[in-house]
Amino acid sequence: MLKTTSQRLISSQASTTLRRAPANKTPSRAPQPVGQAPYPLPTSSRGVERRRLDDMHHGIARYLKRLTYAPLNNPTRILELGSGTGAWSVEAAETFPSAEVVAADMSPLPETLNVPPNLTFKQMNFLDPFAFHPGSFDVVHMRFVMIHLPNPDVYIHRLASLLRPGGWLLLEDVNHTLLDANRPVGPGVQALYRGYREYMHKQGVDPQVGAQLKNMLERSKEFSEVKEVVIPCYMNPRSTEDPALQDLGEILKYSIDGVYVGIMEKVGPAGGITPEILRGWRREVNDPERDLRIDMHLTWSKKL
Ligand SMILES: C[S@@+](CC[C@H](N)C(=O)[O-])C[C@H]1O[C@@H](n2cnc3c(N)ncnc32)[C@H](O)[C@@H]1O
Repeated sequence: MLKTTSQRLISSQASTTLRRAPANKTPSRAPQPVGQAPYPLPTSSRGVERRRLDDMHHGIARYLKRLTYAPLNNPTRILELGSGTGAWSVEAAETFPSAEVVAADMSPLPETLNVPPNLTFKQMNFLDPFAFHPGSFDVVHMRFVMIHLPNPDVYIHRLASLLRPGGWLLLEDVNHTLLDANRPVGPGVQALYRGYREYMHKQGVDPQVGAQLKNMLERSKEFSEVKEVVIPCYMNPRSTEDPALQDLGEILKYSIDGVYVGIMEKVGPAGGITPEILRGWRREVNDPERDLRIDMHLTWSKKL
């Protein structure tokens, strides 16, 4: 029998699926070539970038005290697009041990990750057609990835197509803009954002997508419920008396700093971001007189 294009894609990609190997065998997670993607950060599964992403995940998890605000009811298939270090996928697999969790990213999972038996990995570029059957997941999670994808409005339909009716899309991102409650943001922050935004726009992506997620999801008409929580991440611990928000703000500050150090090689010269601009940004972010924050937008939407 002739296979359809999507069946061929699915069977050809199945060979890249990594299952947990028997205890004495290390699974091969050698990087494989994927198409070009406008992603300016270093590979997520190694070194400083891995540590940054893991610390950020654990900081967010400490704050949320849950995997998601969505009322998940014994999901059987969960997909994480942009699994990075695998931290969220592992947590999902441990929270729902009878569910099958699929982590997908262009970067392989870290070699040393302890992969639960119900977690598999697929290497892919999200700009290519998905190698999954439409409507085959109860949950699709994507955090800090939409900000790197062109045409997010269109992309939401691609994500929705992966869900069964009643399934949940968990879309989470920051709005990549520091806001100062007291006064205009300083020249360092302004210069850094100008360069970063220009670079991102040239790549066809929008670093301010976070604040638009809810509207986009509603506009898509793919969901019966669209919910959102906006969490302010304060760069200055004096901006809030809530110790949990202070902890989250500190983690996000350190993580965003890591983003800017991480993108310097690719974005620095192209976006006109000099080390002096980065130093100015850092001074202002740590200025005790300022009240800078960045907003994290967590959405959960139920597929029609
Ligand atoms: C900022 S990291 C976030 C990782 C993880 N979601 C988290 O919250 O820690 C973005 C991830 O998306 C992946 N990514 C970005 N663009 C991609 C694309 N076009 N195809 C596949 N993966 C992509 C990167 O490799 C990276 O692991």
